[in-house]
Amino acid sequence: MKMDTRVFPDLDALSRAALEELLRIMQEAVRERGRFAIALAGGRTPASLYALWADAKNHGAPTPWDRVHLFWSDERYVGHDDPRSNYGIARKALVARVPIPQANVHPMPTGAAQPTEAAQAYEAELRKFFGAAPPAFDLQLLGLGIEGHTASLFPGSPALEEQRRWVAAVEAPAEPPQRLTLTPVVLNQGRNTFFLVAGREKREIVAALRRESESQPSPYPAARIRPAGRVLWFLDEAAGGC
Ligand code: 6PG
Repeated sequence: MKMDTRVFPDLDALSRAALEELLRIMQEAVRERGRFAIALAGGRTPASLYALWADAKNHGAPTPWDRVHLFWSDERYVGHDDPRSNYGIARKALVARVPIPQANVHPMPTGAAQPTEAAQAYEAELRKFFGAAPPAFDLQLLGLGIEGHTASLFPGSPALEEQRRWVAAVEAPAEPPQRLTLTPVVLNQGRNTFFLVAGREKREIVAALRRESESQPSPYPAARIRPAGRVLWFLDEAAGGC
């Protein structure tokens, strides 16, 4: 599989490079469309990028937080104060540390009794913000699981075949099992997509993705996300060094 990869010595260097590219895309989006809509990734890897972004006020052009809208590419179906919450991780590293208007922060809701209701509610929020066509995020951040999942799209998940819904409630073979995830209907619209991948445990799946042929459907969800726009892979040496 063709991958536009950039390999860095460690997670800090990876995160700094990804932030620099994020800020460039942000400036361009604000200039051209008056706002920057980003879908944040969950998991541990992006937390250092979020913290650097919160600190970025110390250098470079300041972020126009009133023009920035934060969404999430997936969420574990737990309370936002639960340490496993993707929103909770980003709130601690970024949201609570910057002057972003509360109305610009769009966490996936996890309070409904049925996750399917929450998925429908998030889709309604996306439609309210983007309009009726599947949304094209200016930037979507994604991670990679060791078996090739991305967002909360796991191998063999019916959500991978979704053609209509923008947000799906899924049962994941991971803890916690109940999750919400953007579907390929949305993720394949992204103007820019960054995969952020670090750590020795990701080496095998990165090598497997590199070996994937372009001619047949891949078992790996990360290889099934083919956004219309640019896709960049930010890897540390441990995960992606040849
Ligand atoms: C999640 C994520 C998921 C994550 C990968 C990598 O909710 O778990 O969105 O797709 O990006 O599992 O996670 P790490 O960055 O923690 O390795």
